[in-house]
Amino acid sequence: MINIAKGTQDLLPEVTSDWQYVENKLREIAQNYNYKEIRTPIFEHTELFTRGVGGSTDIVQKEMYTFTDKGDRSITLRPEGTAPVVRSYIENKMHGYANQPIKLFYEGPMFRYERKQKGRYRQFVQFGVEAIGAEDPAIDAEIIAMVMDIYQSFGLKKLKLYINSIGDIDSRSEYNKALVEHFKPSIEEFCSDCHQRIDTNPMRILDCKKDREHPLVKSAPTIYDYLNDDSKQYFEQVKLYLDQLGIDYEVDTNLVRGLDYYTHTAFEVMSDAEGFGAITTLCGGGRYNGLLEMLDGPNETGIGFALSIERLLLALEAEGIEIEHDDALDLFIATLDEDSKQYAVQLLHRLRKAGIRADTDYKSRKLKGQMKQADRERAKYTIVLGENEIKNQQVKLKDMNDGGEQIIELSSLTDELKERLS
Ligand code: HAM
Repeated sequence: MINIAKGTQDLLPEVTSDWQYVENKLREIAQNYNYKEIRTPIFEHTELFTRGVGGSTDIVQKEMYTFTDKGDRSITLRPEGTAPVVRSYIENKMHGYANQPIKLFYEGPMFRYERKQKGRYRQFVQFGVEAIGAEDPAIDAEIIAMVMDIYQSFGLKKLKLYINSIGDIDSRSEYNKALVEHFKPSIEEFCSDCHQRIDTNPMRILDCKKDREHPLVKSAPTIYDYLNDDSKQYFEQVKLYLDQLGIDYEVDTNLVRGLDYYTHTAFEVMSDAEGFGAITTLCGGGRYNGLLEMLDGPNETGIGFALSIERLLLALEAEGIEIEHDDALDLFIATLDEDSKQYAVQLLHRLRKAGIRADTDYKSRKLKGQMKQADRERAKYTIVLGENEIKNQQVKLKDMNDGGEQIIELSSLTDELKERLS
């Protein structure tokens, strides 16, 4: 038997209705904030990620599914959505569109070769949004407000929002110099990844999972001492907007995020629900002011976030929130013999074309077995078709909720059901 690849999952019919519910709600909320959908390919030229996400990141160094295609090009299955959306923005000259910023959302599978763990997959589905073409603290606040609105609209309560400012490119480079001075003399005490990070991206030492408890991480200088006035002012304004919107947050000065493109605002939402598992990050995002130019685009800036639907569903489970489904059958037609079965097939076809969810038995079950099947499908109504029903062109329509029965002309069954279901 061939098994499923590690870190991936089959979404069986028992759970796809949860997914559809979540996906529809996410789209609805994105539209309330006036974000429009973009769909980019699942694979891109590898260079997009090495340049966009950054050569020093875990994603590029360890996690990409990269292969050479038959035309000898290096191709990578997308590990995230921001670089592809920015590529598309540049390539399709969206900066020339009249309405700026361009507000986009996307949803689809991402691929990272990571160690499998609860909440961590090698193929996972991200829902993300990007607002490109405006540098305005109000849009940073809009993006963060939208994230919180999303989680709260699903009924989640045990949430923590952490924010930070990484500053602009100048502030960041001053800060990185200070971190090198701070960590360099004792770098031997850190993990092998941090040995590299000290040269490639010292800020990442601050969110190293292995060295999190090292005293030097706790005593490291904070970005605040290195933010220049513009960066400080920008962050203050973002916080002011969040305060005005009544959004609770905590400033975490060690929040630097794992991708290289961030500047200014960075944020993450965590679940503090018991039983969520070791990985508690529900979503992450931030501003990326240098990314467009790094990808040979115009001097425009952007901000966005992404969440995975897998972790959103885990959070719902951890908080005991059940999703209500509307996948029950409207009508189940039980049949008593071969002639009524033939009649049922035609009747079903008419009902379905009229928008009624209907089904019948295809396994020649006895009547009792057919009624059990109707129960399992949570059918709202049932009818039993036999010789008499067809001869008289009348059926007993049974309401499975209250057990009530009513005799109906077969010719008016569709109208009757439509009225009852509406
Ligand atoms: P990220 O922090 O790498 O950011 O991922 C965002 C979210 O994707 C995470 O918070 C988590 O919910 C989910 N995620 C990441 N890896 C996995 C995994 N292996 N299994 C399940 N879920 C996962 C980005 O991807 C940025 N592009 C976000 C962004 C958009 N920044 C600006 N715009």
